[in-house]
Amino acid sequence: MEGRNRGILLVAAGLAAVSGLLFGHDTGVISGALLFLTKQFHLSNGLQELVTGMVLIGAVAGAVVAGQLADRLGRRKSIIILATLFLIGSGGSAAAQTLPWLLAGRFIVGFAIGGASFVGPLYIAEISPREIRGALVLLNQLAITAGIFFAYLIDYAFASTAQGWRWMFAVGIVPAAVLAIGMFFLPDSPRWLIKHGDREAAAGVLRRLRDEDENEVNNEVQRIQDRVRKQAHWHELLKPGLRLALLVGIGLAIAQQVTGINTIIYYAPTFFKQIGVPGKTQTAAILAGAIVAAVNLLATIVAIWLVDRVGRRALLKVGLAGMAASLGLLSGLLFFFGPAAGWWVIACMMAYVTAFAIGLGPVFWLLISEIYPLRVRGSGMSIATVFNWGGNLLVALTFLTLFQSIGRPATFLIYAGLSVVAWIFIQLLVPETKGRSLEEIERDWAERASADKDRPEQRGQLRSAS
Ligand code: BGC
Repeated sequence: MEGRNRGILLVAAGLAAVSGLLFGHDTGVISGALLFLTKQFHLSNGLQELVTGMVLIGAVAGAVVAGQLADRLGRRKSIIILATLFLIGSGGSAAAQTLPWLLAGRFIVGFAIGGASFVGPLYIAEISPREIRGALVLLNQLAITAGIFFAYLIDYAFASTAQGWRWMFAVGIVPAAVLAIGMFFLPDSPRWLIKHGDREAAAGVLRRLRDEDENEVNNEVQRIQDRVRKQAHWHELLKPGLRLALLVGIGLAIAQQVTGINTIIYYAPTFFKQIGVPGKTQTAAILAGAIVAAVNLLATIVAIWLVDRVGRRALLKVGLAGMAASLGLLSGLLFFFGPAAGWWVIACMMAYVTAFAIGLGPVFWLLISEIYPLRVRGSGMSIATVFNWGGNLLVALTFLTLFQSIGRPATFLIYAGLSVVAWIFIQLLVPETKGRSLEEIERDWAERASADKDRPEQRGQLRSAS
């Protein structure tokens, strides 16, 4: 049996991570599709923004609803429902004949990825043993970056096909079908099962997923059972102890977006095109996008290798320091030399994307799958995810205006400043979760809450475990 169960665990985590592929595909595909859509539906600038923004609006709605879904129906069923919705939304967008039809399709796709963006990591965290939980949850971010990369290749492949945009959207049906069908054959999360009173089924799942003897399995079931409380309302997150977990999730969610990642991912191809690297055509710009996406993907592999070795806090802090430094340099280069700084600007962008992909990109999704107690895990992740997609929408709506009003150097300087603020936030508040079981992490918050109660003078004084 040795090793066989580990194989099943890897397959389960890998399959659930396909939800990240849907997320990434949609993030990357729109830039290529938009060129076509603008012609086909005679879109003004405002309407182009609406078509792009509709996914983000849908994602906020999906993130709100999916927390309830994941707690009531279970993680596995929720992923099946969300993948099916993605399938319908992609098919619908690909077949759209009118603008309202297209917008409805985009909203459904957004709803599905808003939910799947956190239910995927949630499922993986709950089936994983603590020693490799970080690496397995990061498979989801790897899938996001792979999705963005493949989307550029798909855009490239269909760039000169008539009605190519329909194909660009339709390709999303394939991973969605794989995810929806594949999840049918996977077990439910043992933690969710225990919470819903099905101890036997949970032990059965752990026997399939762990290379451990019966004793160890029973101990794990008992440890989870010991911490199970009744399903709590999300208000519970406002109580002492958990309030801090709520703040950490929301703070990281906002930090991940307001430090500008999606502006760089979108803006890099335009910049490459402006300075003529690797050429001045639209196809060259798509190719440049693919290069940035490849750097993002490769750096995520490094994060997977490091996350259970050096821990979450180290990756976050090194990553944010790198982001702040590269954004600061980028801002200075653009201010003093403009596009003449050419390759240096590109090097800064690559360094920034690498730093994001090592730290805040993957570690945000990982930490929010770890820090909330089982009874409010769905709600806690849902709230953090709403702030993440909300932040994404905010940046999408403001960055072009900022470019035009205060200029690019100042805009990137703001993102650099926000990276410094995020670094301080992490230093002060974010706990280390490496090597701890989800139940131990839960107990840490409870202890912290009672310590706060016992020593009121220290309330609000936060220690960050290291
Ligand atoms: C973020 C996305 C971003 C992607 C880039 C994700 O963790 O949530 O907004 O586009 O990383 O790789």
